[in-house]
Amino acid sequence: MAEMVKLFVNGQEVEVESGKNLIDAFEVIGIEIPHFCYHPALGSDGNCRMCLVGIEDGRPPLVPACKTPVSEGLKVQLDTEKIKKIQHDVMELELINHPIDCPVCDQAGECKLQDYYMSYDHQASRMRVPQVVKEKKMDLGCGVIHDQERCVLCARCVRFTRLITKTGELGIINRSDDARVALFPGRSLDNRYALNIVDLCPVGAMTSKDFRFKQRAWFLKRDKGICHGCSMGCNIFIDHNREKYKDDLIYRFRPRLNPEVNGYFICDEGRLGYHRENEGRLISARIGTEESSADQALQTARRRMEGADKLLILLSPNCSLEQMLAIQALAATTGATVSGFSDGSIKNGDADGYLIQDDKSANRAGLALLGVNTSPEFFESALQRTDTLVSFNNDLFITGPNQAWAKKLGEIQIIAISTHDTLFSRQAGIAIPTASYTEYAGSVINKDGILQTFGQAVCKNSAPLDMIRIAGLLGGTLTDPEALMQAMKRKIPAFAAIETDQIPEKGLKLSHNEAAHVTA
Ligand code: SF4
Ligand code: SF4
Ligand code: FES
Repeated sequence: MAEMVKLFVNGQEVEVESGKNLIDAFEVIGIEIPHFCYHPALGSDGNCRMCLVGIEDGRPPLVPACKTPVSEGLKVQLDTEKIKKIQHDVMELELINHPIDCPVCDQAGECKLQDYYMSYDHQASRMRVPQVVKEKKMDLGCGVIHDQERCVLCARCVRFTRLITKTGELGIINRSDDARVALFPGRSLDNRYALNIVDLCPVGAMTSKDFRFKQRAWFLKRDKGICHGCSMGCNIFIDHNREKYKDDLIYRFRPRLNPEVNGYFICDEGRLGYHRENEGRLISARIGTEESSADQALQTARRRMEGADKLLILLSPNCSLEQMLAIQALAATTGATVSGFSDGSIKNGDADGYLIQDDKSANRAGLALLGVNTSPEFFESALQRTDTLVSFNNDLFITGPNQAWAKKLGEIQIIAISTHDTLFSRQAGIAIPTASYTEYAGSVINKDGILQTFGQAVCKNSAPLDMIRIAGLLGGTLTDPEALMQAMKRKIPAFAAIETDQIPEKGLKLSHNEAAHVTA
């Protein structure tokens, strides 16, 4: 529990957390101090002067809130005529050469310049001279497009490349009204986190080539999710929209703050991973090469599973804990062997010591916690003995067809329950579409043993069945959400301790010996 201090804002006593600056401390209690250059991940630069506040303790009349720590008894003034005048002046300065092209700006609706104009400025322009013309569309690399005219020179982007990625591609060149953000000569943005600059930019000066002109921000529905791009489990916003007569589509992933997992940022690959949620999906069920209804495919699959001599179920390390439990229950009723072999989703040497991990799946720790064997030896031996393989979204050909298994896979029945139409699902005798991770709710455990939950974000027009429901239709007995939660509580002690069946927003760190307590 953080230490609290009492201070005064415009004469009113408030209590805030110590150790923070005025901007951050006041934000928690719902008091906004306008600012452009300060960002908690980048520190205070003090260049924009939008955050000036008054302090009644003999200091200079106004101080930057971003550089002023809270302290006991401090008397802070936010609304004096002098402060309002400075806010007007800073806004006027920022808008002298600003193109005000809000109607075609991607940032419109989530722009600090727009918001602060409405809240703190609201004055007509006095400018009667031509504006300075700068570059409107600079391709900086990594899918970032820069509009120099919209820039307020807060240097957040520059500091990001210096402090976070340590690649230092950007700088601010020239002076006064000719100052502008530019790449160092001969360089382009070249790092795996570059698109975070687009979120950091408080105005529309940095836009994403991927998102530009696709959607207006106010049409997007924002849901909280967990990136399934690797075992880091970064927290994201899933911004999606169901336009009239169209399907619910995702337009972008954005980072969601979780100090325990990803902080303020995500990697570009994970960010652009939303495309895979929209594209390449398995839309219709197939029996052989013929399209079929999901019902018919499920009935045929169930008959084949009942007639199987040695059934092998393959679980994906991307399945949620709930799905894993439901599929384990199906295995128990059908006498199937369960393997979580998925070495194909491990990309050795790709991790960067920051967020990006070698393991490109979201819940391998869940497989371990539930005692699912993931070893290649176990899988290969089970494969040699099986006559029917049921894959729950585990793409065996994720890195291409494996020649060593080709003969065996050609001899057995394959039932692929799959989010995507892949080489593997096309080899299957029965392919059944299933919901992907933005389309269901569940829990996953990241590489640090942090248990996180996520809700359903996207609602497709023809929603494919969730794997839990499919497990039930194939003969599984554990499909009811309450029964699943009870099973989780029995198997994972951390769940048992939670009264509300809710995991805290920041996740729940499982103890090191949690796995040892898992009951069979
Ligand atoms: S481009 Fe955006 S983030 Fe960079 S200095 Fe300009 S306003 Fe700030
Ligand atoms: S680091 Fe991993 S979990 Fe985080 S955004 Fe990238 S791919 Fe997703
Ligand atoms: S936020 Fe304090 S000077 Fe810019």
